[in-house]
Amino acid sequence: MTLRSHITGWGKYVPPNVLTNDDLTHMVDTSDEWIRTRTGIEERRIADDDETTSSMAIQAAQEALEVADLKPSDLDLIVVATVTPDHPFPATACLVQDTLGARGAAAFDISAGCTGFIYALTLAHHTLQSGAYENALVIGAETLSRITDWNDRSTCVLFGDGAGAVILQADEAEGGVLSTTLGTDGSGARLLYVPAGGSQIPSSHESVAERQHYLRMRGREVFRFAARIMPTATRDVLEKADLTLEDLKLIIPHQANQRIIDSSAKLLDLPSETIFSNLSAYGNTSAASIPIALCEAVEEGRIQRDDLVVCVGFGAGLTWGATAIRWSTPRPEAPPSSVEKFWHSLRYRYAAARSLLRRFVRWLLSLGVNE
Ligand code: UT7
Repeated sequence: MTLRSHITGWGKYVPPNVLTNDDLTHMVDTSDEWIRTRTGIEERRIADDDETTSSMAIQAAQEALEVADLKPSDLDLIVVATVTPDHPFPATACLVQDTLGARGAAAFDISAGCTGFIYALTLAHHTLQSGAYENALVIGAETLSRITDWNDRSTCVLFGDGAGAVILQADEAEGGVLSTTLGTDGSGARLLYVPAGGSQIPSSHESVAERQHYLRMRGREVFRFAARIMPTATRDVLEKADLTLEDLKLIIPHQANQRIIDSSAKLLDLPSETIFSNLSAYGNTSAASIPIALCEAVEEGRIQRDDLVVCVGFGAGLTWGATAIRWSTPRPEAPPSSVEKFWHSLRYRYAAARSLLRRFVRWLLSLGVNE
């Protein structure tokens, strides 16, 4: 028996709050023209004060569960790829598990920069293929606005917030995830990083005053790496699946810079329509960018059953990775009915009540311990 893993559900969430290039010109010395021509970005979404990485991840996950027609209690595994977790620990995935009411699921985060979603998908794929688990929820979610230095024009124009999620299910049917490739070059670790807040430079008044808890990037070096690695990883993952660029329907790349996307299309000798881009609307949402783009490509009908899709990412670490997927799930014919929506909301209310009860019981028990 050969087990394969199939994407059977997908969902995304982006905050409603839009920050345009023009808005940014009132914040730093920049222009709409510079941002558009150097990056391709026109606007990005910024989380409201009450939104967090977990709250956005949960919205995307609920949508993905609906598409897959799966109950949260059916999930065996939840992996959240993020560099902006709600807390240094516990994992954001644990908060997602609790709110969804995914009672039987193992949950943890992966930190692999903008490649995080590909790392998480690869790990979930191999776990499902091994037969250890049947149903996995894989999320890429980021609140980059919280680690962005809004005084630094070289980075603050690039990033946005959001979340994307997929459901991966084990099945013997042909197709699904065909091959994967991952890589790392840690010698580039400090090309894109947050200097403080970890064990090397713990948070202090000084670290905050020096703005060391914000993201820093040597853009030009990262650009060079990205433009080289994206075509290489794409070719590599296709070769592993015994396929060629001619078999390809669509590439879903990490959305960092339109110039990286265009130069990859050129190097791969592919028409630009073969590489999906929604960068202009969301900017770079790090680990969330690939699942958000994948979700939109399916919603727009750019991916149909049996199409070959390559998802390819690169980013902090330096890390890179790609997955080749034979798409096996058609789009649902109709959105969930109001009755279905009601049942789903009831399920999440039950999960919230259950969580509250567990906290209450824990509090009662702690009273006993103190006596
Ligand atoms: O998601 C993880 C992976 N990240 C990436 O892939 C990002 C890769 N890097 C990039 O996308 C590009 O390097 C950037 C978009 C970050 C920068 O574009 P660039 O063409 O590499 O610009 P640069 O850093 O070489 O800067 C060119 C000029 C500089 O001025 P001088 O020194 O030539 O006078 C910058 O100070 O542009 C200036 N500049 C800006 N000007 C207006 C930098 N940022 C801005 C800005 N507005 N926002």
